[in-house]
Order: sequence, then C-alpha cells, then structure tokens
Amino acid sequence: MTVVAVSGGSFAAYDVVVGRGLLAEAGARIAPIARGRTVIVSDETVAPLHGPALQASLAAAGVRSEIVAVPAGEASKSFAELERLMDRLLAAGLDRKDVVVALGGGVVGDLAGLAAALYMRGIDFVQVPTTLLAQVDSSVGGKTAIDTPRGKNLVGAFHQPRLVLADIDVLATLPDVQLRSGWAEVLKHGLICDADFFDWLAGDGAAGARGDPAALERAVIRSVEIKSAIVGEDEKEAGRRALLNLGHTFGHAIEAELGFEEAALAHGEAVALGCCMAFRFSVAQGLCAAADAERVEAVIAAAGLPTRLAQAGQFSAEALLARMAGDKKAEAGGVTLILARRIGDAFGQRYDDTAPILDFLKSEGAA
Ligand SMILES: NC(=O)c1ccc[n+]([C@@H]2O[C@H](COP(=O)([O-])OP(=O)(O)OC[C@H]3O[C@@H](n4cnc5c(N)ncnc54)[C@H](O)[C@@H]3O)[C@@H](O)[C@H]2O)c1
Ligand SMILES: [Zn+2]
Repeated sequence: MTVVAVSGGSFAAYDVVVGRGLLAEAGARIAPIARGRTVIVSDETVAPLHGPALQASLAAAGVRSEIVAVPAGEASKSFAELERLMDRLLAAGLDRKDVVVALGGGVVGDLAGLAAALYMRGIDFVQVPTTLLAQVDSSVGGKTAIDTPRGKNLVGAFHQPRLVLADIDVLATLPDVQLRSGWAEVLKHGLICDADFFDWLAGDGAAGARGDPAALERAVIRSVEIKSAIVGEDEKEAGRRALLNLGHTFGHAIEAELGFEEAALAHGEAVALGCCMAFRFSVAQGLCAAADAERVEAVIAAAGLPTRLAQAGQFSAEALLARMAGDKKAEAGGVTLILARRIGDAFGQRYDDTAPILDFLKSEGAA
C-alpha cells in the first residue's frame, strides 16, 4: 500500500491511497470523516459488484450507508441525473458536515463530485475509483462536471476530494477494453514527463495492460504521483496542467467526429491514437526524432491500442481541424497542441496558422 499526498497552494491537501484489498479497509479510513453515515453514489454495474464490500466495511467501522446507483455510462453525466442525485442526498438528510462517497468510474466520480460541490454550497467527498482511468486520472485533481447537448464537461466545478482510495483488486472485474483505455492514460503520463517510467511500461510493466495486479499497482502509483504533482502546481490549468492533454486534442476531435458513441472508440483508445499523432506531428514539425514516434507507436500497438487514424474510421481533415479549433480548451482562433521533444518531454505549442495541422491530418489519411 502506498499513500501519495496531493497538495497545492490553492486547495486542502489529501491522500490518494493505492493498494490491494483497500475496499475492506475503506470503512476504517472513511469513518473519521463520515460522522456515522454516508451516501455512496455508484452506477448500476458497479454497485452490485463492489457496493456490498464497501458497505460491509463501512458498517464494521460504525458508518451507516445507502447506495444511490445511476445508470452506467456517460449519459448519466446530465442535469437530469444531477437533479435526481441532489434530491436523494436531501432525502437522506445529509447536512453540510456529511460526506458523499463516489464508487465507480469517471462518470460516477464526475457526477458525485459535482453534486458534492453544489450540495449545501459544498460538502466533502471521497473517491473510490473502480476503473483504471478513474484511478490514474479522473479521481485525482478535483475536476468535476456533467455534459450538455452542446458538449462534454461544459458544466462543472473544481472540487478536490477529501480522500481517494484506489483498490487495485476492483480492477479484476473491469472489461478488457476499459483496462486498455485506462492504460492509454498511464502511457500518456510517461510520455509527458518520465522516460524511465515509459521504458518500464514498455517492458516489464506491460503486463499491467493485461491485468497483472503487481504491474497495475506500480503503474497507478506512478501515474498518481505524476498527475498530482502537476495538479499541485496548477490546479486551474493556467499552464502546466495542460500537458495532461497530450493526445487529447487529436483524440477529442476523433471522438467528437464519431459522435462519442461508446461502442465506436473508448476514450483511452482515442487518446492512444492522439498520442501517436502528437508524436508524428512533432516529427513533421522537426521538433522530435522519428525514432521516438516509432517507439511510441510500437509500445501503444503492443498494448492493443490503436495507432493509426484508419483504425478509427474515415475522417475529413477539415472536419477534424474544426473540432480541434472548437475544443473548449482552445483559445479563440488557433489551436494549442501538446507536442514532444522526445519521450518524457512534452510541451504546449500554439498554432495561430493551422495550415500545418491540416496538411498533417491529410498525411495521416484524413480526406
Ligand atoms: N474529472 C476529470 O479530471 C476527468 C478526467 C478524465 C476523464 N473524466 C471523465 O471520466 C469519464 C470516463 O470514465 P471511465 O472511463 O471510468 O468511464 P465509466 O465511469 O463510464 O466506466 C466505464 C464502464 O465500466 C464500468 N465499470 C466501472 N468500474 C468497473 C469495475 N470495477 N468492474 C466492472 N465494470 C466497471 C462502468 O459501469 C461503465 O460501464 C468521462 O465522462 C470523462 O469525461 C474526468
Ligand atoms: Zn483522457
């Protein structure tokens, strides 16, 4: 078991605990902040799988709990589910000193986190992430949000959790595609700032992508260290936090063109492909050696993740570029990309003239 402390000038410090068998200890860790009761927010897939163990552990520590389960999937990040959830928290009689526990993937974490940010002007919440993506990415850093028909994550708040419990054992029930999807974010962390970590992920650590718990544990710990260090410096994404978007500007454009159909391409698959594209674009711009981009592609392919646009479908270069420029993270007019000088050395680069990006998208096979 490893504890990563997350701290920054702009928020109260909290611990991310990573290890095996943590669900069984969760009660003892949550009891000191839960004042004898809590509401667990989960989804209809995760609640029956892992809810009973969490509730039993809470009960053993003297904490009464009830579970509110939303439908599994991105559609639950909606105003309608947020409203229903708020009503359930009110009906449960939680007050300002109570805590909410999010048990699930990024969808549950984002929805429950936003509910906690809003409930009685803000109450504490605990993240118990159950997907690899949630353990290495969404449960740490305090971004919470729901979607609107105009786009993803457009309504939200910064609200840091009070505690994060990442139990590696809960990943055993995760479908393979979800495991691979989270693995893409793990690889991304190495690509951004830790070449040694990436080397390990390419070698012995690769077993994690196939579900090996020891490799997963080490991968989650290092990812949380990297993400929390970046968030600690730059909670509100004024600068360095944007590096975490490596692979995401290309990836989001591809996801948006595919209509965010969950069956079409998992988020992490789009990110993996986006990381390959970011490296190839860096090469095309003369910023990075071709050998690095080839290595990134080989390691991502070996993890069972896509590396080429054609694997995701057929795209129009103009349409992809419009999505990239329309990304809510883009400042008006141009596109900011996270590029790389080499593996483990990413940086942000703004393009007011997007012609080189359009040419690149065509060279990648977009029409
Ligand atoms: N807040 C942030 O900083 C941040 C960062 C990245 C992503 N996100 C958000 O996270 C969401 C994606 O998260 P996700 O990939 O975890 O998706 P998810 O929460 O939808 O989970 C994926 C699927 O796996 C199932 N599942 C979860 N845990 C399981 C387990 N242990 N066993 C079996 N099935 C399990 C879920 O029911 C769901 O069907 C997106 O909405 C994205 O916007 C937020
Ligand atoms: Zn992502």
